[in-house]
Amino acid sequence: MRLLVTGAAGFIGSHFVRHALVSEPGAKVAVLDALRYSGNRSTMADFADRVEFFHGEIQDASFVEASFRAFRPTHVVNFAAESHNDRSFLDAGGFVETNVLGVQVLFEASRRHGADRVLHVSTDEVYGSILQGRFTEESPFRPNTPYSAAKAGGDLLCRAYFKSFGLPVIVTRGGNTYGPFHFPEKLVPFFCTRLLRGKKVPLYGEGGQSREWIHVADHASGIWAAMTKGEPGEAYNVGDDNERTNLAVVSAMLDELGLDKGLIKRIPDPRRGGHDSRYSMDAGKLRALGWAPTISFEEGLRATVRWFRDREDWWGPLYDRGDSQEFFARFYGASLGDDL
Ligand SMILES: NC(=O)c1ccc[n+]([C@@H]2O[C@H](COP(=O)([O-])OP(=O)(O)OC[C@H]3O[C@@H](n4cnc5c(N)ncnc54)[C@H](O)[C@@H]3O)[C@@H](O)[C@H]2O)c1
Repeated sequence: MRLLVTGAAGFIGSHFVRHALVSEPGAKVAVLDALRYSGNRSTMADFADRVEFFHGEIQDASFVEASFRAFRPTHVVNFAAESHNDRSFLDAGGFVETNVLGVQVLFEASRRHGADRVLHVSTDEVYGSILQGRFTEESPFRPNTPYSAAKAGGDLLCRAYFKSFGLPVIVTRGGNTYGPFHFPEKLVPFFCTRLLRGKKVPLYGEGGQSREWIHVADHASGIWAAMTKGEPGEAYNVGDDNERTNLAVVSAMLDELGLDKGLIKRIPDPRRGGHDSRYSMDAGKLRALGWAPTISFEEGLRATVRWFRDREDWWGPLYDRGDSQEFFARFYGASLGDDL
């Protein structure tokens, strides 16, 4: 297997590479990544000497073509994306470029070079919000943000490239993911690193929004199962039935760190109510391939909090670099005030 993984200098992609190197020790692995704000060489430090690295953008057709010529992948897995929903409220265009155009460029190269398998990583957010019941792979797409709409565009290209050109592409739709090496900007690492720096954490309203959480190691093994055992042309939800409200998540983190609930600062939703209230998925189709998550939410969250407590050498330089602080200042504005 010659496995090309895009976006593996980021959170989930780096765990997928670790999983691949153990599951298929004979595989040749390459990473293609633009090293944007959330993609860092430090995230790949433990496997960098075992992979080839191509530095560039997935929407750059000549760079992608040169990388395919040089590496000749049999398997292509696409994690590269603008991945932060809140950031899409400030720069929707950049999300469309990477998450739609980039996918199309990658699929064209995969088609030209006759890849045996292409796996595209999508999200449960393409389905929108659900108040009762659970999304299946057949649920309609009702994305509510520029991020989820752009992801839905890339996701729909999977079906189109399979139907139109026979590209052997599989798509996975994963739930909210947490774990080590998470850029300190999304909810769990953002809250964790702020608390470890003695700062308050902003919670929208009563914190009643509910998300389905999955540990990054389980998400990575789910994608591996879909790639190796799934059917081309099919979509697979990757979920763990672990629904928790944002308030429950932050309370568990405060408990693990031995901190007081007074560190929660309730603020109005900066998206003016545009926050999806609940995500929930049925992952039975992937489980039928023999995959099952192995890490309970309580155990996984506690271990993640301890990882961040012990690994300031990884997140400290990223936190202090200032680009996230600049984003938070723009996004939260006055609502965090002196607590920013
Ligand atoms: N984090 C989650 O909770 C979650 C849940 C479901 C699905 N997903 C999807 O999983 C994938 C990975 O998410 P993540 O949380 O690891 O994101 P991340 O932001 O940590 O990593 C994204 C990586 O892609 C790279 N990248 C960005 N734009 C690029 C471009 N134009 N060309 C090449 N590389 C580029 C970045 O440098 C980074 O290394 C995304 O497609 C995301 O939509 C994430």
